[in-house]
Amino acid sequence: MRTSNSNVPPLRNRPRASASSDAQVQGRLEAAEVRAMFDRIASVYDLMNSTMTAGLHHRWRARAADLARLRGGGRALDVATGTGDLAFELAARTGDDGLVVGVDFSEGMLARARAKARGREHRGSVRFEWADAASLPFPDHAFDAVTVGFGARNFEDFPRCLSEMVRVLRPGGRVVILEITTPRRPPLSSFHRLWFDRAVPQLGRLAAAAQSLSLRAEQIDGEGVAAAYTYLPSSVKRWYSPQALAAEMERASLSQIAWITTAGGIVAIHSATVVE
Ligand SMILES: C[S@@+](CC[C@H](N)C(=O)[O-])C[C@H]1O[C@@H](n2cnc3c(N)ncnc32)[C@H](O)[C@@H]1O
Repeated sequence: MRTSNSNVPPLRNRPRASASSDAQVQGRLEAAEVRAMFDRIASVYDLMNSTMTAGLHHRWRARAADLARLRGGGRALDVATGTGDLAFELAARTGDDGLVVGVDFSEGMLARARAKARGREHRGSVRFEWADAASLPFPDHAFDAVTVGFGARNFEDFPRCLSEMVRVLRPGGRVVILEITTPRRPPLSSFHRLWFDRAVPQLGRLAAAAQSLSLRAEQIDGEGVAAAYTYLPSSVKRWYSPQALAAEMERASLSQIAWITTAGGIVAIHSATVVE
């Protein structure tokens, strides 16, 4: 079992990386750096997701949304919602009588989520708001389900964010965490290394160049995008193993903790219930 994040000293107690790019290579950034990074890559984020996963990311979010076990009229919160795709999946399940709130601390990502909400067919009620996962602006027990998709790995203080997610859930409510994980067995472990360490940062550079051309007026910082997609594989490496994440969820007093892995062990979806 890999060391859980709770054993890693918080960033503020460790020697600071000499530059943000060092921290990116180590896969650990302070919250303000994470926010700036996602503001920088917001315009290429959806394109990169589809390129990196050959479009499979939609299927993984649909699976995560199913595990939230929402009914029509339900209330759900999607934390670190980014450009909103998981929130839209949840809204398709809660329907017009329900409510899904997607929160994020990157205005750049939220702007894209809101634009997508305006452009899509009406399938359930969804709204996007600014919030920091470490301090959610909602009362206790406000939601039936709280999800986070590919966001938890970026939290500066994951246990604190998890306890916030649990706080806003009603007794019996569901937590779902969708994340990239590191496959242990060959050949997938070798492919994973090659793809994430070598190909993904280059793809980031290409996507930035392509977007710069198509958007013309919007100059995209290609090196900044490549650095963000260097941070991605490093952050996956220092993230919990599925077992260690389950142990962290247990420490947060969750019950019925379970996880599935998919895409050959590259993606893990954890789910749990708040004790009634
Ligand atoms: C990799 S994106 C995931 C976006 C989306 N959930 C998805 O499924 O594609 C990670 C998101 O987490 C957000 N994030 C990271 N730390 C956060 C925090 N403490 N509070 C709110 N949002 C946070 C970032 O701004 C970014 O939009």
